[in-house]
Amino acid sequence: ENKVSVGLLGLGVVGSGVVQIINEHQEKLKHQLGVTVEVKRILVRNLEKAREVDVDPSLLTVNPDDVLNDSEIDVVIEVMGGIDTAKDYILQAFAAKKHVISANKDLVALHGPELHAEAEKNKCDFFYEASVAGGIPILRGITDGLSSDRIERVMGIVNGTTNYILTKMAEEGATYEAALKQAQELGFAEADPTADVEGLDAARKMAILARLAFSAPVDLDDVKVSGISNITAEDIQNGNELGYTMKLIGYADFKNGELETHVLPTFLSNEHPLAAVKNEYNAVYVHGKAVGETMFYGPGAGSLPTATAIVSDLVAVVKNIRLGVTGEQVVNSYYKKALKDESE
Ligand code: HSE
Repeated sequence: ENKVSVGLLGLGVVGSGVVQIINEHQEKLKHQLGVTVEVKRILVRNLEKAREVDVDPSLLTVNPDDVLNDSEIDVVIEVMGGIDTAKDYILQAFAAKKHVISANKDLVALHGPELHAEAEKNKCDFFYEASVAGGIPILRGITDGLSSDRIERVMGIVNGTTNYILTKMAEEGATYEAALKQAQELGFAEADPTADVEGLDAARKMAILARLAFSAPVDLDDVKVSGISNITAEDIQNGNELGYTMKLIGYADFKNGELETHVLPTFLSNEHPLAAVKNEYNAVYVHGKAVGETMFYGPGAGSLPTATAIVSDLVAVVKNIRLGVTGEQVVNSYYKKALKDESE
């Protein structure tokens, strides 16, 4: 049949963006894929809640089985967040031979390798472009765009909240507390901003990036983390006078033959391309042996930017379905079976 059916787990800010992009870009999707993409069911917590997007109320359900056990649903998009329940639903989706797309950085950072193994076992795709740097196509940039190169170093500004805070402290002399409050009001800080300011959110994203960039089995615990909560506007401005900009930088590189991944407040020379990345923007700088310097820049959060990453994952899944090359045989899968390679 000329239709791919999608089930959504969650209809918050990002889920609403996904519905909107699928609706508004239906013609383009159909042109690229030769099939219609239909959102068939959406798991929500509350049926009565007002929604940010026009959606047929009959699609909404509070019963996960309506998504996970509907044999007509080919692809499950997880945009509900949280760890345990989301993981359980994703495993059920794989067991039912459904492809999965997730935006869940916490879950992928903690359980990505296990979820990949389940996907592969069931010959399903598992993609999560939206989990790192929102709308920036960095995972595919690394795994497809730079797949022929040998990546030597990744440096990222992958947390918008801290970048916003550091920018406001540097440019307006704002206090840390005032700048954090503004970031919360603008809506990109996590519910508990501790994860942002202590560097944990960036560490999760760096674990995911490091795995993909180096095909290495990186655990979240391997990432050394230091946040920005102790930094003062005075520190930042002293650096500025000497030509340096303070950024919270995630690093993944080889030092002494070992992959090292860490998140660290860093004075960058104003000449470094990452020094120019301001406010809540994200950027990932990738140095490849053959290509040299590259930098990927854009919005790290937000409904429609994040949704584009998810729907582009959906395009990749549908292309794979059409080619009959999902899961194990997948051609453009993000993950290169790093754990397996390691043990061989
Ligand atoms: N709290 C995150 C940030 C949201 O500030 O970047 C996007 O992951």
